[in-house]
Amino acid sequence: MQKFYIETLGCQMNVLDSELAASALVRAGLLPTGVSADADIILFNTCSVRQHAEDKVYSALGRLKNWKEEKPHAILGILGCMAQKDQRGIFQRAPHVDFVLGPGRLDILVETIEQLRGEKKRPAKTVCVSLPRTENNSIEVLESFRQYNPERMAGSPTSSDAPSLVRITFGCDQFCSYCVVPFVRGPEQSRPPQDIADEVQHLAEQGVTKITLIGQTVNSYQYRQTRLADLLYQLSGIAGMEQIDFVTNYPLGINDYLLQAVRDLPQVSKHLHIPAQSGSDIILKRMNRHYTAAQYREMTDRIYSTIPGATMTSDFIVGFCGETEEDFEQTVDLVKYCRFRNSFIFKYSERAGTKAAELYADDVPEEVKKYRNHRLLEIQVEISRQLAGG
Ligand code: SAH
Ligand code: SF4
Ligand code: F3S
Repeated sequence: MQKFYIETLGCQMNVLDSELAASALVRAGLLPTGVSADADIILFNTCSVRQHAEDKVYSALGRLKNWKEEKPHAILGILGCMAQKDQRGIFQRAPHVDFVLGPGRLDILVETIEQLRGEKKRPAKTVCVSLPRTENNSIEVLESFRQYNPERMAGSPTSSDAPSLVRITFGCDQFCSYCVVPFVRGPEQSRPPQDIADEVQHLAEQGVTKITLIGQTVNSYQYRQTRLADLLYQLSGIAGMEQIDFVTNYPLGINDYLLQAVRDLPQVSKHLHIPAQSGSDIILKRMNRHYTAAQYREMTDRIYSTIPGATMTSDFIVGFCGETEEDFEQTVDLVKYCRFRNSFIFKYSERAGTKAAELYADDVPEEVKKYRNHRLLEIQVEISRQLAGG
């Protein structure tokens, strides 16, 4: 029996996609292996959010040249966000890759692999990706980013102690100026609440007690009249569900209805991950984030005053285009004010095709980015320590 190995980079979207892809492959008669050298099929589920994530894949691909030469029947495939972004360009840098499949086309993974397995001589390289987004988001573009939610297997990794990931939205429509996600994951789409409830019910029947609802801007979930808060009420009613989390939130749209649902539903964890990205209004504007630092602070106040014992985490980008010492100090102030339980801090990485790459110079020197990353982390670590009572 042929064995497959999946290497997953990036966010929880990819973690879930890999899990779903793995169960589809097992159902098609393939065997998973945790050791890449033993595999006949190696898949990389890639991330494009920062250059570093892409570099990692290209160097791993370089190391697989020998594996490919030694096993002529072996199959090497690239999935995920870099597949959508680089498309055929991947073959230029790694000619031994057999196929490239965007995240909106995972539905044809099994058939793509089966076709390749059936061929005696390796056919032409295949690329299947979604359409590029246009100004007036046509239905065609939307349909080309297909929702991928095959049924999962009983006994898949989701039944372990870690929460099972349940997707509620696909894609993103925010277009933060630095970010590739709206291009590589396509237009935002919310899943019908009944599909989500059925999936959660099914997981509960398999013994899953903890779930994390995922989406790029999960709090903008809306399917007809159903909003995220309504969904939380509905899912809390499923017998056996003990813990419900949701990530990632966009700071706007954290309304009182949602906060009250979080407060009132015992199953919903009193923790919110809401990336702020920066504490400077000038930078936030340049990032195309549609709020000010004052609005973020006000939201934080509302969270802490509505939900007793609430905790928060955040993401920050340091060294964004034109970020001055003063802008950075405003970020430091925001971190101190909000008292996050933790912050994920990233150095700005310019991404081709984004507005920021087009409009602004990536002009903060690498050493300054490093220094700011380090300094903000130190401040956050101290706050985390205090909150943990250490
Ligand atoms: N949808 C989520 C997270 C998207 S990516 C959100 O908007 O909050 C996760 C994090 O990566 C972002 O929150 C941001 O802090 C960071 N990020 C995104 N693009 C980046 C870039 N070009 N350079 C550095 N960090 C980036
Ligand atoms: Fe990227 Fe912004 Fe969408 Fe998050 S909200 S995925 S940072 S565009
Ligand atoms: Fe990366 Fe794609 Fe997630 S770019 S952060 S894997 S949506």
